[in-house]
Amino acid sequence: MLGPSLLYGFLAAASTATAYSHSTHINYTVVTGIFQQDDNATNPSTFNFTASNFGLIERSYPSDSSCPDSKHSTQWQRLAHYISTLNNKAKRNERYALFFMGRHGEGYHNAAETYFGTPAWNCYWSELNGNATVTWADAHLTETGAAQANSVNTFWKNLIKDEKITPPETYYTSPLYRCLDTAKLTFAGLDLPRKNPFVPTIKELLREGISAHTCDRRSNKIYIHKNFPSFKFEKGFVEEDPFWTKLHAEPSADQDIRSKAVLDDILSNDASTYMSITSHSGEIASLLRVLGHRVFSLSTGAAIPVLVKATTLTGDGPATPTLPYTPQSTCTAPPTIRDSSCNDCSCCL
Ligand SMILES: *[C@@H]1O[C@H](CO)[C@@H](O)[C@H](O)[C@H]1NC(C)=O
Ligand SMILES: *[C@@H]1O[C@H](CO)[C@@H](O)[C@H](O)[C@H]1NC(C)=O
Ligand SMILES: *[C@@H]1O[C@H](CO)[C@@H](O)[C@H](O)[C@H]1NC(C)=O
Ligand SMILES: *[C@@H]1O[C@H](CO)[C@@H](O)[C@H](O)[C@H]1NC(C)=O
Repeated sequence: MLGPSLLYGFLAAASTATAYSHSTHINYTVVTGIFQQDDNATNPSTFNFTASNFGLIERSYPSDSSCPDSKHSTQWQRLAHYISTLNNKAKRNERYALFFMGRHGEGYHNAAETYFGTPAWNCYWSELNGNATVTWADAHLTETGAAQANSVNTFWKNLIKDEKITPPETYYTSPLYRCLDTAKLTFAGLDLPRKNPFVPTIKELLREGISAHTCDRRSNKIYIHKNFPSFKFEKGFVEEDPFWTKLHAEPSADQDIRSKAVLDDILSNDASTYMSITSHSGEIASLLRVLGHRVFSLSTGAAIPVLVKATTLTGDGPATPTLPYTPQSTCTAPPTIRDSSCNDCSCCL
């Protein structure tokens, strides 16, 4: 496994030709038929995860007959038994893990994009730290965003109390403020097992796809620690943002490489079966691609569970070229059109 510092070096060396070389790699597949979200028939734009028990499909599992008190067990209890039988029967190089991936609630950058319209946001305003009244660099949650996270907290309370869900054993979050705060509000005050308290680990590579927008530039480590003193930093987390580069953007192929790297890193160092990830719309989309899950866009504050089979294979994974960050063009004044077809800033004024 590449250690974080080596990984950062690898990612920062933007023009290296080959990605990883380690002697094993992890192959991911989604175990389908468990959640409505992994079914092509479910429409992501109308799906409501809190109204549908997180999308858990009501069904029997092959392991039900050995589930203690199966008749009086909830669907989540029978799923937990099923996952544990899958893990007990798995080959030595296989394991099953359930990820709960949550997108942050609405941030000031989301509200600003709506307010200015996408072309003016992308080509002008997003490159600034804010305007006279609002800051969107490393955006905080709006009141709406905090309310979204609080309602997911209520949802988790009910899942634990009524549905007897197995809560996450470990928690990971993006280093951007909107995710740190969303994780804190989502998991505060839950009735969690004493051995698995909410102490999230901040992971650099769970951050949003890096664009020229100042909302993708993280704060320094001292500031994060001051605001979230109980959160842990992964090993090698550096003081200043090592990636964000003025007027440059991370290519999406690079993003998938680092999404795989962070998943491999988590699974190589954490034996948990239930894990929470708090991240962003673009980054969760990338994690889902790496896991082989179908496209499933999340609105602000939404979350998705994914049951994954991870197989450790010997031999190097496919070598993937890493591309250099691409320069971004902007406008010297905000474009006046609101039509989101203008993403290359060809519509300046
Ligand atoms: C690796 O994962 C893909 C799906 O993501 C699957 O089709 C393939 O069979 C897996 N390969 C092995 C060797 O497990
Ligand atoms: C879901 O849709 C994808 C892409 O359209 C297709 O490749 C896949 O086979 C479908 N899966 C199922 C279970 O129908
Ligand atoms: C989702 O369903 C819940 C009820 O569980 C409801 O309170 C909430 O307003 C719904 N959300 C949306 C976006 O419709
Ligand atoms: C700054 O932007 C916000 C949109 O997020 C807007 O509501 C506010 O009116 C703007 N302030 C000024 C002074 O234009």
